[in-house]
Order: sequence, then C-alpha cells, then structure tokens
Amino acid sequence: MKRRDFLKTSAIGITAPSILMSDDEIKPNMNDPLILSTWEHGLPANDVAWKVLQNGGSAMDAAEAGAKVPEADPTSTSVGFGGLPDEQGNVTLDACVMDSDGNAGSVAFLQNIKHPVSVARKVMEETKHVMLVGEGARQFAVSHGFEEIDLLTDESKMAWEKWKKKRREMMPHETHDTISVLVQDKNGDLTGACTTSGWAYKMHGRVGDSPIIGAGLFVDNEIGCAAATGLGEEVIKTTGSFLVVELMRQGYDPTAACEEALNRVIKKHNGNLDFQIAYIAIRKDGKIGSACIKDGFEYALLQKGKNNLHKIKGTI
Ligand code: GLY
Repeated sequence: MKRRDFLKTSAIGITAPSILMSDDEIKPNMNDPLILSTWEHGLPANDVAWKVLQNGGSAMDAAEAGAKVPEADPTSTSVGFGGLPDEQGNVTLDACVMDSDGNAGSVAFLQNIKHPVSVARKVMEETKHVMLVGEGARQFAVSHGFEEIDLLTDESKMAWEKWKKKRREMMPHETHDTISVLVQDKNGDLTGACTTSGWAYKMHGRVGDSPIIGAGLFVDNEIGCAAATGLGEEVIKTTGSFLVVELMRQGYDPTAACEEALNRVIKKHNGNLDFQIAYIAIRKDGKIGSACIKDGFEYALLQKGKNNLHKIKGTI
C-alpha cells in the first residue's frame, strides 16, 4: 500500500491528529514480512513464525506456530504447559486468533490442552462460532484430536503450594504474562494470535482479555493490528486492542495509538496504578508501535531476518 492510499483509508470521516507518518518513517519494502511479539518469550516465537513464512506458510500459520512455542515451554509460567494455576491449582487457558479476512476464533477457561491457540484456530475455521469456553471448549478440542495432558508441572505446583501459604495477590505482569504474536506477511496482510494462562492464582473461572476479540487482540487488515498484555480486566473495560487499531484509523501513529489507549486506563485511576498494561501494534504500512504503563515491558521484533528484544519505557 502506498502512503497516499493509507492516508486515504485512514482519514475517512475523521479529523486526523497531526501524527500521520512522514515519508522517511515508511517501511522501505512492503515485501519484508515482520513479526512482533510480546516479552522475551517472543524471541523464540518469532524465530519459529519466521521459518513458517520462509517455508511458504500463511501469516496465520506463522502466528499460530509462534504462539505455540511458549505454550509448549514449561519455563514460560504465564502461558500453556507450566502456566501458573488459579487459586484452586487448575491451569486454565485463554487464547484467540484473528486473520486478515476478519475471521476470529477463541477459547477461554480451557483446561488440559497444551495448545489453546490451535484450538482457537479450529474454532475459527471449523465452527460457526467465535468463542468456546470451559468444558465445551475442551470437548471440542478432544473431538478434533487434541491430546489431553496435565498442564501443571512440578515447578508450577510447587509455586502454587508456596503461594497458598501466604495468598499474596500476584499481578499478571509479575509472571510476564501473555504472549501475543502479530504477523505481517510479504503481501502486507496482517494476522495475530494471543495466548495466556492468565493471572496467576486468579479466581477459578476468571477469564482475562486474551480470548476477547478487540480486547487482547484485534486485526483490521485495512488499518493494522494490535495486541495487549498485562491486567486483562482493565484492557477489557477499554476494549484496548480495538481502540489502538481505531486510533490508527484516525491517523494516530502506532505508538501514539498505544499510548492513548493506555491513557484511557490511566485517567480512570488518578495516577494510582499498581499494574502493568502494554500494547504492541503494526500499522498497515509496516510501521510498528508499542507503549506500556510502567517500565519493564519488552517486545521482540523480527524484521529483515533480525530478531531483537526492545525494552520500552513506561508512560508514567
Ligand atoms: N492479559 C492476560 C490476562 O489478564 O489474563
């Protein structure tokens, strides 16, 4: 997409702020795929997603394959196998995917299945629905050949038993939280995947933002895509990822869009924020953005074959 085409699309009916991109900010070659993921566990996720693209896989294949890496990694304690459990000791998983045609699939409160992101994709591709939860999601997964396993590792069980003695509330960012993988393929098409075991030691039955389309993840192939990590309750209340994409539609730069989405949360808390939220975003022209409430967030960006971790300063 050429710059003038982007501006034409993004400015429809809206007074755009003065933060539209300048020519030198435009990604030089639209044929360069890019992969943007949350946190350090985004690095190996990006590598796998990149290989999928190099081998001719679709952007959705890449996003799913990337998200599966931390899901399978027992040392990733906020995602999939080895994720920290809820207060009753159950590992319950949330995930969603969205493709460049605007299709979406999601699972929430899913137990005993290692790859919720793949179940979410199956929901998208093989049902008339967008979201399956709990026992229904598990039955659907099993009926589609997903193996049932115990997701609680010895380490996560020990951590939960230790927590039970004191019952100190853990905030999602303390355990690194959600993995989101945003992919732009060589055609410029956008997809995303998002997966988490959620807030460590949460109430049994709690579902966060990650399986909620528009909260944890949103993709609009004309404009851009965005994903969230951090305190899901606040992301849900502000429809965070949808908001980031809509702000980009209005002409906000991707980072400014992420910052403005955070501002909507910050304003409500009068500066008393003891939690983290971070957004990552890719605009249709390939410009990326990110913002977080507090220092400590990092994203992994794979572009032109290079995969690097970027630390982000908090906005407060
Ligand atoms: N952002 C993940 C969660 O709140 O569950």
